[in-house]
Amino acid sequence: MAYQNLLVEKKGAVGVITLNRPDALNALNKALMDEMTLALDDYEADDDIHCIVITGSAKAFAAGADIKEMQPKSYMDVYKEDFITANWERATRCRKPVIAAVAGYALGGGCELAMMCDFIIAADTAKFGQPEIKLGVMPGAGGSQRLTRFVGKSKAMEMCLTGRMMDAAEAERSGLVSRVVPAGELMDEVLKVAQTVADMSLPIAMMTKESVNRAYETTLSEGVRFERRLFHSMFATEDQTEGMAAFVEKRQPQFRHR
Ligand code: CAA
Repeated sequence: MAYQNLLVEKKGAVGVITLNRPDALNALNKALMDEMTLALDDYEADDDIHCIVITGSAKAFAAGADIKEMQPKSYMDVYKEDFITANWERATRCRKPVIAAVAGYALGGGCELAMMCDFIIAADTAKFGQPEIKLGVMPGAGGSQRLTRFVGKSKAMEMCLTGRMMDAAEAERSGLVSRVVPAGELMDEVLKVAQTVADMSLPIAMMTKESVNRAYETTLSEGVRFERRLFHSMFATEDQTEGMAAFVEKRQPQFRHR
C-alpha cells in the first residue's frame, strides 16, 4: 500500500517503517499515526516479518505530536476523539519485536513513540525530551509514565518540568537507550541487531518480549511466576527442541518459528 507520511521497506525478515514528513520534522499528525497503525498491522500479519524497525530522518526521529493540528482543538474535541490514545497505542500492542532507531530530535510524542518500542538504539546526534510544558501542556502519550520508568523520578521530573533535552550520551547513561552508535552507522547497526532478533525463533522472541514487558505491569513474584509459565510452555515448541539439539550437536539451529 502507498503511504503519504511513511516509507515502508522489507529487508529480509525485518520490516522497516520510516517516518516521512520532512517539512515538519516528522511531526506526528493523525494521518501519519493512522498510517503507522496500518503499517504495523501489515507487518504483524506478515509471516515473513520477524522484527520491525521504526526510524525517522537524520535531523528528526519525530519532533512531537503535530502542534499545528493540536492548536485549534478544544477540550471537547480531544476528549471525544480520545486524542492521542486512539491511534497512538498500536505500537504498544505489537506482538513482534519493535526497535526504534533514533537520530536527531525525539521530542514529546516522538520520544513517547520511541519509548513504546521494545528498545531504542540512538545515533550520537539523538536528542530526547518532553518539552510539552513549554506549550502549556504535559506529555499525553505516556511520557510522564514511561520516561519515569526508564530514567527514574528525578531525571524524568526535571525533563518534564523544564522541557530540557537529553543528548545521546546522557540517554545511554540513564538507561533510556540500549546503546549509541555514530550517526552514519545507525541504520546498518540497527538492521544488524534487527536481523539477529529476526533469526531467533519468532514465537520465542514474542513470548520473551511479553515476559520483559510484564515486569512493568506487575509485582516481582507475579512476574517471575508469569515467566516460569511461559518458560515451561516453550518446551512444547519445535524451536526449543531444535535449539537445544543444535547446541548439543555443535551446529547452528534452524528455527522453523513454531
Ligand atoms: N508540530 C508541528 N510542526 C512542527 C513540529 C511539531 N511538533 N516541530 C517542528 N515543526 C515544523 C516547524 O513548525 C517548521 O515548519 P515551518 O517551516 O512550516 O515553519 C519545521 O517543522 C521545521 O522546524 P523548525 O524551523 O522549528 O526547526 P529548528 O531546527 O529551528 O527547531 C525543534 C527544531 C527544536 C525540534 C523545533 O522545531 C521544536 O521545538 N519543535 C517542537 C517540539 C515540541 O514542542 N514537541 C512536543 C509537541 S507536543 C506533544 O508531542 C504532545 C504529546 O505528548 C503527544
